[in-house]
Amino acid sequence: MKNYDSDQLVQAAKKARNFSQAKYSNFPVGAALISTDGHVFSGCNVESSSYSMTICAERVALTKALSEGTTEFQAIAIAAKDGDFCPPCGACRQLLYDYAPNIDIILTNGKNSKSYKLIDLLPHAFEDSQLG
Ligand code: THU
Repeated sequence: MKNYDSDQLVQAAKKARNFSQAKYSNFPVGAALISTDGHVFSGCNVESSSYSMTICAERVALTKALSEGTTEFQAIAIAAKDGDFCPPCGACRQLLYDYAPNIDIILTNGKNSKSYKLIDLLPHAFEDSQLG
């Protein structure tokens, strides 16, 4: 059951974008992940001179939450450049699916927002049941 305010979550994602460390791509991203009990964990992308070490905003938010003992989630909002929607990359879809398969993904272009179910963005997902 939806128990959060999408607009507030979008605002939190935009706020997190202000802290982005995107000096290599100049592509700031903010994310805000809300738990089932209403706590918001924000994240921004953190880039590295060794490019592949870069961490996306979504994974920063998720790992912050998990590492503080929060494991049940409702939704994540993602804000990148105003004017464009920024869908989560494949790696983030997978990690989110591993820990929060039923969440809503809310994208904002700064003006409007769109909501998806993560399961619709990652069809035929690899999942832990396949590990045996
Ligand atoms: N990025 C995110 O943080 N989230 C996404 O959903 C897409 C991409 C970051 C990674 C990198 O710092 C920059 O955007 C350009 O790819």
